[in-house]
Amino acid sequence: MVTTTQTNANDTYVFDQAWQRELERLRLLEALFDPASRRYLAAVGVGPGWRCLEVGCGAGGVALWLADRVGPEGGVVATDLDPRFLEGHGRPNLEVRRHDLLSDPLEPGGFDLVHARAVVMHVADRERALAHLVAALKPGGWLVLEDVHFGGAAAALLARYTVSAAEVPAWERLWRAAAAVFVAAGADPSFGERLPAALLGAGLEEVGAEVHAPLVAGGPAAGFIPLSVEHLRPRLLALGLATEAELEHWRRVFADPSTRYLMLLMVTAWGRRGRTSG
Ligand SMILES: C[S@@+](CC[C@H](N)C(=O)[O-])C[C@H]1O[C@@H](n2cnc3c(N)ncnc32)[C@H](O)[C@@H]1O
Repeated sequence: MVTTTQTNANDTYVFDQAWQRELERLRLLEALFDPASRRYLAAVGVGPGWRCLEVGCGAGGVALWLADRVGPEGGVVATDLDPRFLEGHGRPNLEVRRHDLLSDPLEPGGFDLVHARAVVMHVADRERALAHLVAALKPGGWLVLEDVHFGGAAAALLARYTVSAAEVPAWERLWRAAAAVFVAAGADPSFGERLPAALLGAGLEEVGAEVHAPLVAGGPAAGFIPLSVEHLRPRLLALGLATEAELEHWRRVFADPSTRYLMLLMVTAWGRRGRTSG
């Protein structure tokens, strides 16, 4: 069942759940990063009886895994601006909410674990979003926050891993153009690099972080980055950030099985609310 609270549209989100290939795109994101997210969540100890909050649940892979992991004694609340992909999930311990992280309420001190991946970078007021996530933690509860970094210096760094080397300049242009779309919308394509400082600044304890990025092969099957570029195509063209010829060049390189490229850097950061706080 999906419950609804009063939701204000957050127009900084550059993608759209209603796009005809969005579920496919989000599942490709999960295939790339769910295995790592599960390892980090297991490492903070999530297990039977925990009460968890999954914010911006997307296609729902992490929320479903959490629901199985916490079992019947525990519970998971999964939220999203548009939670359509988790409807009809059939788990009695998983509540799905249509909810805007910036403007809708969350139970204060309600959760042993709060997790969000590739969400806070998209919201206009990231400091406020983080404050809402921290306030939802029980004393001693864990925040695991994951966000990407592909803007600024990261665009050049990511491009350097591209095979073949001849494609490095085109790849750097692609990362820079995608980052510019995010910035134009009010999102931050480099928010990942700020996570450790943000968690420390929020007063969390036992703060740690890791940066990871899988190498991906090109080929005829759809990939997360090719589908993301297809989704952003109208904005890339309208903002003058790419030409039809560049889009066609990137499409050919994505489809080439000999291509290898580094996915965007994912920063996973974690921290714990003090046991005496709040
Ligand atoms: C890039 S997707 C990531 C989905 C999922 N967390 C994952 O990593 O597989 C971002 C998700 O955050 C949601 N989202 C964006 N802004 C939000 C907000 N202000 N409040 C709640 N969800 C939001 C979007 O609807 C989308 O499902």
